[in-house]
Amino acid sequence: MATVGFIGSGNIGSTVARLAVEAGHQVVLSNSRGPGTLADTVAELGPRASAATSEGAAAAGDIVVVTVPVKAFPDLPAGPLAGKTVIDTCNYGPERDGHIPELDSESLTSSELLLRYLPGATVVKAFNNIFFKHLLSLARPAGAPGRSYLPIAGDSAQAKAAVTEFIGSLGYGVVDAGPLADGRRQATGTPVWGTPYGPYSDEKGRPADEEAIRAALAAATR
Ligand SMILES: NC(=O)c1ccc[n+]([C@@H]2O[C@H](COP(=O)([O-])OP(=O)(O)OC[C@H]3O[C@@H](n4cnc5c(N)ncnc54)[C@H](OP(=O)(O)O)[C@@H]3O)[C@@H](O)[C@H]2O)c1
Repeated sequence: MATVGFIGSGNIGSTVARLAVEAGHQVVLSNSRGPGTLADTVAELGPRASAATSEGAAAAGDIVVVTVPVKAFPDLPAGPLAGKTVIDTCNYGPERDGHIPELDSESLTSSELLLRYLPGATVVKAFNNIFFKHLLSLARPAGAPGRSYLPIAGDSAQAKAAVTEFIGSLGYGVVDAGPLADGRRQATGTPVWGTPYGPYSDEKGRPADEEAIRAALAAATR
């Protein structure tokens, strides 16, 4: 079992944390307002959960999940994240993040931008393409019928193997979508983003098998 740090503990961070605790991992949560504001979430998650500063969560994690608005990337603790495997769940949205020229022009993916802020980390893009309520409800143990798959993108085979094992423990299979630059094929608005798991109006979601995720990635036009 691993210790998983979280920078950001909102909709998607707290959902991944809940699945991680259920799988037997330790989780260390953080947000922008300080650990005291996470007391209720920690109490709900139970004894495998604790809260810390962002620096503390980064230092504690064998794997660290960065799950914040893209506009918060400049505030991330690069020092303690050096040498870590970082899962990037983030999606760029100018209406929330403001305009970031490299992302508007698509000369960089948001994960490549993250790597510029965290030059010592190994970044793997994951969880960015699924609605947090679907992520919670579609988790199934390996071998169970209706297991869903998630795409991941990253440049390190070793980090992708660690993330695949972690995601597997949470209840999902993984499709390797290629290097970090290919994360654009799972970005906001692509065929694999949201749609395979059903409409947001159905909070339970719909299982998406390996073939469905591979086909959706292949249909991406960017
Ligand atoms: N919602 C989804 O279903 C979903 C699905 C896939 C991917 N995503 C992406 O994943 C990311 C997180 O989404 P979300 O829906 O979970 O957002 P959210 O509910 O708004 O939570 C954002 C979290 O980031 C924290 N945060 C903001 N600025 C920070 C900083 N400078 N340092 C540390 N923590 C900071 C917030 O802490 P405070 O509350 O203390 O400010 C909060 O815990 C976004 O990029 C989003 O596009 C979301």
